[in-house]
Amino acid sequence: MLNFKMTTLENLALPPRDYDLVGKYSQDEINGFSTEVIPSLINEVIKHNPGRVLDCMAGDGNLTSRFIQTLIEGQRPLPQIEILEFSSVQSQIARDALSAYSVRVWNGDVLTMKDLETKKDLFDDNTFDCVMLKSANHEIPRDLQTKLWGQIFRVLKPGGMLINLGFLFDEEHTRDDVRSLALCKDELAGFSGAVSNRYFLLRKELIQFLHGAGFVRVQTLKKVMYNISAGRVAKNYFPRDFEKHQIFKDAILSSRNLRDFGFIEKQGDDIAFLAEGEITIAYKNLV
Ligand SMILES: C[S@@+](CC[C@H](N)C(=O)[O-])C[C@H]1O[C@@H](n2cnc3c(N)ncnc32)[C@H](O)[C@@H]1O
Repeated sequence: MLNFKMTTLENLALPPRDYDLVGKYSQDEINGFSTEVIPSLINEVIKHNPGRVLDCMAGDGNLTSRFIQTLIEGQRPLPQIEILEFSSVQSQIARDALSAYSVRVWNGDVLTMKDLETKKDLFDDNTFDCVMLKSANHEIPRDLQTKLWGQIFRVLKPGGMLINLGFLFDEEHTRDDVRSLALCKDELAGFSGAVSNRYFLLRKELIQFLHGAGFVRVQTLKKVMYNISAGRVAKNYFPRDFEKHQIFKDAILSSRNLRDFGFIEKQGDDIAFLAEGEITIAYKNLV
């Protein structure tokens, strides 16, 4: 189980970043995935039998934590696991939560694979057997997506596996509505970086980026549905702010394309939108 200690903004050596502001929160509660989604991802990683794994853009380390719990329950040996995360606060939460295990947590940038404070390169080429990304690639702007997938490809060993759980749209209209809702939430939460950076990929774009980086055998492991409610977003990003909660609720209700596609759902007093996503796997070819 995650065991959180308090990390304050005053402790930070560098200026705060978006996910420093939110502090302790639950990404999975917000995303509202059905219960089999995360186990499917974890089981696929276990099947690959990696010796060294990178949980990339890992937030508070919740995926690594569940990965480790699954391995322990199955009486399997733990691989060497490393975490890369941009926010100092989330990195520290991950460090504290995983201190019982020999997980290395790096406060770094996926686009350079450098430590943010020391500016040192973190990973050589061909380092990891598996890179996992959960609900994170949409944080990177479109013009830097080539860099994102290129860096992940670089640090994977030949034969290594990328597993990516993220938003993935077939339809531009629904993608654009989700982008608008994310923008609304980010403005309400004070996420100035996300307001300008976020980019939500169409399926054809992801495939293009992955092939462009050199990945082969790009395939869908599982289609998933995000189920994001105004109540759960408000609870995690602006708790007790009823005005912001109402603004976000109204934004969901006025998302015409999502409504036309049947992607708006009333949940008791709460209102949610559904967004298409996928667990995608891809490999670096054996040389
Ligand atoms: C939506 S959160 C998801 C976190 C985690 N994967 C999860 O599912 O709980 C996206 C994370 O990506 C991190 N991030 C954004 N830009 C990054 C970058 N350039 N390098 C590393 N991490 C980054 C953010 O700080 C944030 O913690």
